[in-house]
Amino acid sequence: MKKRILSGMRPTGKLHLGHLVGALNNWVSLQDSYQCFYMVADWHAYMSEYEDPKSLKENSCEVVRDFVASGIDPERSVIFVQSHVPEHLELNMIYSCMTPLPWVERVPTYKEQLREIKGRDLTTYGFLGYPVLQAADIAVYKASAVPVGVDQVPHLELTREIIRRFNSLYKKNVFPEPEPILTKSPKLLGLDNRKMSKSYANFIALADEPEVIKKKVTQMITDAERIKLKDKGHPDICNVFSYFSTFAKPDVKSNVRQWCEGATTGCTECKRKLSDILIEYLEPIRTKRAKLSDQDVADIILEGGKRAKAAAGETMDEVKKLINLVK
Ligand code: TRP
Repeated sequence: MKKRILSGMRPTGKLHLGHLVGALNNWVSLQDSYQCFYMVADWHAYMSEYEDPKSLKENSCEVVRDFVASGIDPERSVIFVQSHVPEHLELNMIYSCMTPLPWVERVPTYKEQLREIKGRDLTTYGFLGYPVLQAADIAVYKASAVPVGVDQVPHLELTREIIRRFNSLYKKNVFPEPEPILTKSPKLLGLDNRKMSKSYANFIALADEPEVIKKKVTQMITDAERIKLKDKGHPDICNVFSYFSTFAKPDVKSNVRQWCEGATTGCTECKRKLSDILIEYLEPIRTKRAKLSDQDVADIILEGGKRAKAAAGETMDEVKKLINLVK
């Protein structure tokens, strides 16, 4: 039998190139070797959006649409919404009881988010438990690996610690300790050279129309030392060039390097080339996305939820018996 993996994304809006390169492409290729559970982490989104959750439902559906359009196959993989499987919350309860406070207080992403996320009150009891719920998400499927970016490694480390504690308390190896499967491609920065993020509005969405892509690429920041066409550029520090590294074929990439270093072709032409490449790259995703009706998305979520619940339910039967809850 194939090993299981689980991963998830918070529904904060339409997905963008950063999600594709940093996660989705990897998720797609893992479908051959693993039984995959891909989740829309709506409870995790709610933790930071609880004051104004009006977009939650729509965002969750858009994320499912982006999953499928990017190549996640709802037949082979289980695509589901976290809140449809209450077993996550049951295991979260159990894990919360056995997780010492200092373990969650020292998680670096927690401290970072408290510092960085403005305009929201995240000093809540629930938010402190963010990585504990994440541990439950993974363990409730007995997943043995989790495809994530490096930023999530501390959460996975905590997951492993909680699992070790559970297994040792009840002297039974109920849960495997999950390994991270790290994405190999280097991080793609946003259009303004900052981290690509919804909150900075510096992204290209998978659903963006060609005209929008063109406009966004035009606005990208290039090598600041290349002002005139005759100035020689430095592709290795140019964000536009890093996009060629990710999306262009090797021969195109080396041509563009020559344009820049040899000062033969300007940034405007270079950006035109990049938007052509991105438009072509995203074309199949955009087409597939547009073909999926709301009903298709609803069907996928319903079906995935059933399959996820069956798997999670099995684990929880075993766990509840082990901790002596009345059946
Ligand atoms: N914390 C993850 C993120 O922000 C989302 C997530 C929630 C997740 N539960 C998960 C990722 C379980 C992997 C496994 O990207």
